[in-house]
Amino acid sequence: MYSKKVIEHFNNPRNMGEIKDADGIGTVGNPVCGDLMTMYIKVKDGRLEDIKFKTFGCAAAIATSSMITELAKGKKIEDALKITRNDIADELDGLPPIKMHCSNLAADGLHEAIKDYLSKK
Ligand code: FES
Repeated sequence: MYSKKVIEHFNNPRNMGEIKDADGIGTVGNPVCGDLMTMYIKVKDGRLEDIKFKTFGCAAAIATSSMITELAKGKKIEDALKITRNDIADELDGLPPIKMHCSNLAADGLHEAIKDYLSKK
């Protein structure tokens, strides 16, 4: 079963949408279920000034996307790169074991967006 926090983030996802002039974009897909997530970041002075996401996926994928934007916003790039899927799951008061892979999408998507930003510098 999902925790209350997962359901809350699924019902009211934070930072959902797209940043038109994003500094970095990362898209990742889950080969198992076919779900897809794109993360957009805006960077200022080495910090993640803004993050938005678009996720076509299950409830856990949407809740973890929402949670990672909250965890990473305002953080230095180096620190944002250290956020793991376990951090996201912990922050959501846990995920059902068969849904842990969904939190990979959120962590990987953010990491890809940061890599994209760094490659353009
Ligand atoms: S089932 Fe696909 S990301 Fe959760």
